[in-house]
Amino acid sequence: MYNSKITGLGYYVPDNIVKNEDLKEFMETSDEWIQERTGIEERRWIDPKTGDTTAVMGAKASRIAIERAGLTKDDIDFIVFATLSPDMYFPGGGVQVQDMLDMPTIGALDVRNQCSGFIYAMSVADQFIKTGMYKNILVIGAENHSGGLEKSTRGRGVTVIFGDGAGAAVLSRCSDSEKSQGKGILSSHLHSEGKHAKELVLEGPSTQRWVPEILEANNPDDVSYYPHMNGQFVFKHAIGRFSEAIMEGLEANNLQKEDIDMLIPHQANLRIAQFIQKKFQLSDDKVHNNIMKYGNTTAASVIIALTEAWELGKIKDNDLVVLAAFGSGFTWGSVMIRW
Ligand code: COA
Repeated sequence: MYNSKITGLGYYVPDNIVKNEDLKEFMETSDEWIQERTGIEERRWIDPKTGDTTAVMGAKASRIAIERAGLTKDDIDFIVFATLSPDMYFPGGGVQVQDMLDMPTIGALDVRNQCSGFIYAMSVADQFIKTGMYKNILVIGAENHSGGLEKSTRGRGVTVIFGDGAGAAVLSRCSDSEKSQGKGILSSHLHSEGKHAKELVLEGPSTQRWVPEILEANNPDDVSYYPHMNGQFVFKHAIGRFSEAIMEGLEANNLQKEDIDMLIPHQANLRIAQFIQKKFQLSDDKVHNNIMKYGNTTAASVIIALTEAWELGKIKDNDLVVLAAFGSGFTWGSVMIRW
């Protein structure tokens, strides 16, 4: 068995900054309400004139990650692409990135695990490298939320939270000496609880409710094609599941909470991240949050935050880095990395 490690990281967010105050143009809300409840000050929303899409942003982040890995697009053996907001119903974003980057006809897999998407994608890529099937895998998380949110007072409970962006990592096989030093991905832990699927959901259009049916009904009260979230229910479950996923990762590797050097929590809500930080008694320099600037970018959130923390020099050689996420499904999980 081989070990895998991250050799390149990159992220891309649209230039267009939407501050909390700017949202008042579409809805009744306030900077105070949003900051107090979520910690968000602003988010990036794609300006459609720029041509950015989920896949385009994913490709932009990928170029940076591949270059930083010291590789070229031809060295990549496989793509894993996580998103809940693909450019098309099918095919998924993986093949679009394969085309945009003019890559050879390698395999491309799409992951649909919402806020846990990047955790699942990393775990899948890690297994392919462990078995020796592939050496270098491009793992992407990207979201274009702004194209599908209900920008009105009715939708404000969800709309103010989400932002656009993309991140990418290159996962590569460790050398023998790195493996003997215990470097790379130590373990990943994935979970789901489908009975709560409807607590955070976008129902239509789907094969159960196809576009002609929605159009024919012409029902102005139909909000099934906007995301729905039972906020407080999600909040309560997120806190518990985040903690469990981190504990599970620590226990699987015989580690203690004191061993954590950097926690990258999915950026769902600053209050959730602060609760976890307190629970695991981590000092401020051991948790990286950026929801203030980007909102919740779902499958892109963990990889954008990880890249940013790394760029800021917050992650050093041999650090124990913990990635954890919870989201729609419900799905949740963690990835333990010895840097
Ligand atoms: N601006 C102003 N008021 C708003 C608002 C907004 N953007 N959104 C909702 N409100 C109002 C509601 O209408 C409600 O008003 P009412 O009491 O007159 O009916 C009031 O604020 C409270 O709404 P509620 O939904 O109960 O707020 P909350 O305290 O639960 O906070 C969330 C809402 C979404 C911030 C919070 O539940 C949360 O963060 N949940 C977890 C979200 C999450 O993690 N999601 C991603 C998982 S991956």
